[in-house]
Amino acid sequence: MGALSTTSTTTTATTAGEAARRARDCFSPQQRQWLGALREDLHRHPELSLHEQRTADRLERALRELGAADVRRIAGTGVVARIPGRSREVLPPVAVRGDIDALPIQEETGLAYASEVAGVMHACGHDVHASWAVGAAMLLLQEPACGDVLVVLQPAEEIGTGALEVLRSGALDDVAAIFGAHVDRRWEVGQVVVQEGPLAAATDEFDVVLTGGGGHGARPHLTRDPIVAGAALVQALQTLVSRRVDPGEPAVVTVGSFQGGAAANVIPERVELRGTLRSCSPLVRQQLIDELRQLSQDVARAHRVDAEVRLHGGTPPIVNPAPATGWARVAATRLLGAQALVPMPEVNMGGEDFAFYLERTAGCFVRVGAREPGGEVIGAHTPRFHADLGALWVGSALLAETAREASRALSSPGSDG
Ligand code: NI
Repeated sequence: MGALSTTSTTTTATTAGEAARRARDCFSPQQRQWLGALREDLHRHPELSLHEQRTADRLERALRELGAADVRRIAGTGVVARIPGRSREVLPPVAVRGDIDALPIQEETGLAYASEVAGVMHACGHDVHASWAVGAAMLLLQEPACGDVLVVLQPAEEIGTGALEVLRSGALDDVAAIFGAHVDRRWEVGQVVVQEGPLAAATDEFDVVLTGGGGHGARPHLTRDPIVAGAALVQALQTLVSRRVDPGEPAVVTVGSFQGGAAANVIPERVELRGTLRSCSPLVRQQLIDELRQLSQDVARAHRVDAEVRLHGGTPPIVNPAPATGWARVAATRLLGAQALVPMPEVNMGGEDFAFYLERTAGCFVRVGAREPGGEVIGAHTPRFHADLGALWVGSALLAETAREASRALSSPGSDG
């Protein structure tokens, strides 16, 4: 069982390349070929959120080929496999999650295994996330954790609903901790961010509909003008971050759409604003929602129009908790060496539906470097985004080792086991 046992020595990796090699060496050449082929196959055949039928079939087949006995479909196009632990006691299971859906983007990577589906691509690396969950299953079948590990392949992350569907399926009801990760080309393969505290933002979309009384553009005094009220509201909303939220707390209010009116000389009946709220703590999230409602009503009243505010429940923030983040750090240090752990330089205001799991259970979300040495930083959700293959070994080995460490800690609290 090769390299995972060698990684439990205290040798420290000195470079990202050394850490990447240590992760890669957890797999035999045959295993790497098999897992790399799975990744390329998923990448060639991307499917949009809630349509991951072929992807789920392929992943289910891969898990069965590995010898996982307990594999089933959940939440439509999700798959869960239960990898038995080595203890004969009944211990709380831990889970590792990989998301599986793609995006409506035309691929321009020029990769040999580029998308064969026009207008759809794995531009967020979920081909790698799905494959590294399978890779973790492979390693856990080889060297099991104390307790059982559930390997969860989750659909529909990009539309923010998949995690909730997985939770509703009941498949994770008895899970004591869950771990997940995301590829990130800001870091080289072999570097990982495993840290406590805020990692991804809460994302809440909103609409505000302002309804007044329309009329002739030449006679505004006979109307209640929602355009002027809307303009005032866009300005006023900027004060939520600058004057209401604690300056030490990251927050964003963006109005991305302002629709109203059709002619230069007609005052319309209604105007619709649409925007997004971002925050990194549950308290600030609620504050932004409350203040948005209040301010919209107050500005509307000042302009004698009516405001209707609609919030579309988004994802909560990811705030990695202790002690589960500590378990992931122990695993990452043992596997990759202490120097592989790098800090997040700034708060990420993007969202991630893994946050729904962390509302219910302990766990940690990790960022895994995915840039080849000397490569370019390319943002996710763009046509040229791709993750280097090395990230697949790091993610697989890290999730497997983290599951082992968490299972050990949960089965013998307070011991070094
Ligand atoms: Ni993603």
